[in-house]
Amino acid sequence: MSRQTLGVAVVDFGWMGTRAPAPTAASGSTIPSSRWPRSSSWSPTRNPIGSVTASIATASPAAPTAGEDVLTNDRVQAVSVTAPNFLHREIGEAVARAGKHLWIEKPVGVLAADAEAVAAARVQSAVGFNYRNVPAVQHARTVIEQGAIGTVTNACFRLLTDYATHPHGALTWRFQREQGGSGVLGDLVSHGVDLAWLLLGEIHSLVADTAIFIGERPKPTGAASHFALAEGGEVGQVENEDYLNCLLRFTSGARGSLESSRISVGDQCNYGFEIHSTKGALYWDFRRMGELGVSLGEDYLDQTVQTALVGPGQGETGAFQPGSDIALGYEDLKVIEAARFLRSIADGKPCCATVDDAVRSARALDRSYGCLDAGFPA
Ligand SMILES: NC(=O)c1ccc[n+]([C@@H]2O[C@H](COP(=O)([O-])OP(=O)(O)OC[C@H]3O[C@@H](n4cnc5c(N)ncnc54)[C@H](O)[C@@H]3O)[C@@H](O)[C@H]2O)c1
Repeated sequence: MSRQTLGVAVVDFGWMGTRAPAPTAASGSTIPSSRWPRSSSWSPTRNPIGSVTASIATASPAAPTAGEDVLTNDRVQAVSVTAPNFLHREIGEAVARAGKHLWIEKPVGVLAADAEAVAAARVQSAVGFNYRNVPAVQHARTVIEQGAIGTVTNACFRLLTDYATHPHGALTWRFQREQGGSGVLGDLVSHGVDLAWLLLGEIHSLVADTAIFIGERPKPTGAASHFALAEGGEVGQVENEDYLNCLLRFTSGARGSLESSRISVGDQCNYGFEIHSTKGALYWDFRRMGELGVSLGEDYLDQTVQTALVGPGQGETGAFQPGSDIALGYEDLKVIEAARFLRSIADGKPCCATVDDAVRSARALDRSYGCLDAGFPA
């Protein structure tokens, strides 16, 4: 297939809009393959997202200019949506109705119904479940699928971080039900549910407990992005959960737990999993993304754990580096996401996390609410 240029617009430029799509501009060259159309390059500029327009700047002279309406512009074939959660449904449906391919951030709306509505549009889509793109995570999946560690018995997933620990952390859209929907559930647990599904399969049932530990925050005085602090002004109520603890039962019979917090002092992106099975175990930590702890063998007792360094043979590592343990970073995960999205468009079939995966994750999140509200007296 010959190379094509794809016009891609980005809707909204907060943290994800400025950090994540930028490196993907280079994805046509970073991940070389003549099968994939080249993405145009773009540069972030502010845009009026309320009217569902976005700015796009590309290397191609035929490309749309900043501020044009991406939905009616036939030089835009795909749209990356990095807006706050409450806008995902409106923008996602509009993009799909306009016949454009959709690259949208998780959790795809505030409720499962929002993700379902966007999914119903059936365009090629990609969703920002970037941790499933980690080559070590892919390697873990392969090890499990090959049966090398026997049958998985139990696993724990953790997503603990500190972005909301500061008492002066501004009361942005993230902390409000109408705009953010859930709190740490949409932000981090959505990733955890996706990883759990990827590695262990369907979740059959769950029971969850949530809590708000910092009940009030200062309102921002102007536009405020992720991690913004505010001081001295009016204070408002935090409306969604800081913390979740959850027990999982998988259709396979495996058991699991998932703990997540946005107010975990001392934890910076402490994301990972431990998977135990009848013959071995797997350990992964996002902070050492290129390593997978693997316990394999027939020893059972005192069986060693070795650290496998991810190399060109695992996931898309080889598209970036020729040797093992030359570290990939967070933004590389977005480049992989972009490349898979482009391949989905080129092939006309999904090859990445899609809005259907967001629906699955969102349904589990919806079910997590209120599970333990009645309580089980000790
Ligand atoms: N995949 C990942 O790892 C990951 C990481 C972070 C965020 N995200 C997702 O990306 C999306 C954006 O998150 P972010 O961290 O970039 O947020 P952010 O707060 O940094 O940016 C959001 C943007 O929306 C604007 N905004 C705020 N309120 C608005 C309103 N009422 N109307 C219009 N615009 C408004 C802000 O000015 C800002 O430009 C979210 O859906 C989030 O879940 C994904």
